[in-house]
Amino acid sequence: MTETNLKIPYHIGIIMDGNGRWAKSRGLPRHVGHTNGAKAMQRIVEACKKFGVKILTAYAFSTENWARPKEEVDFLMNLFAKYLKTQADKLIENKIHFKVLGDKSRFSKEIQDSMIKLENDTKDFDEFYLNVAMNYGAREEILKAVREISTDVKNGNLSIKDINADVFQSHLYTAGQNDPDLIIRTSGEQRLSNFLLWQCSYSEFYFPKIHFPDFDEEQIKLAIEEYTKRDRRYGKV
Ligand code: FPP
Repeated sequence: MTETNLKIPYHIGIIMDGNGRWAKSRGLPRHVGHTNGAKAMQRIVEACKKFGVKILTAYAFSTENWARPKEEVDFLMNLFAKYLKTQADKLIENKIHFKVLGDKSRFSKEIQDSMIKLENDTKDFDEFYLNVAMNYGAREEILKAVREISTDVKNGNLSIKDINADVFQSHLYTAGQNDPDLIIRTSGEQRLSNFLLWQCSYSEFYFPKIHFPDFDEEQIKLAIEEYTKRDRRYGKV
């Protein structure tokens, strides 16, 4: 683990919650909330880059979200497909390193191909990293690491005494990246919902009441201001 105590969080994780409530409060169908959530996500990427954040991890779709009504899942899949197609040039132009956190295999071939292409096209950029967690679940991610490490031990490529936090981290989707300094969840809920459970051991948390579609640069500024007031001790005095 790399300890950071910078004024600007190096890595922000965001749980983009409240799209449905945002829409409901305006008498609109839920999908309008998701469309506006996608616009808010673009604003947040720009704001984080502008303020000097290095990594943004946005939680777009959890392993549990497949249980939503089919029409909502279908709408989100179309939104993701559209995002991957329409945002590709912009991400490349802005030198943003794009990465999917999660198991891609459950998505359509079209979405998987777009994800892989965008990851490949942006893999050499190192100014700003955008991780989008899709079909992501932290428990699934931890189990994947356990399976891979067990296989290495079984095949004689790793001895049990050498299993440590660094080895474990190298099997996570966030391999090689600093842990999040700040985790934001919008819309007032105060829970993690299976997001970055290993990586958030020393993260600071921030729970603004605002729904995600209303989240913007000013809100990111407030979150960073709040973060600067925290005293991170990493278990020390
Ligand atoms: C949570 O709000 C939101 C989601 C499960 C979907 C998140 C998706 C986006 C923000 C769209 C943008 C993403 C990409 C990659 C383009 P909710 O539906 O749970 O809201 P509620 O709790 O108010 O019902």
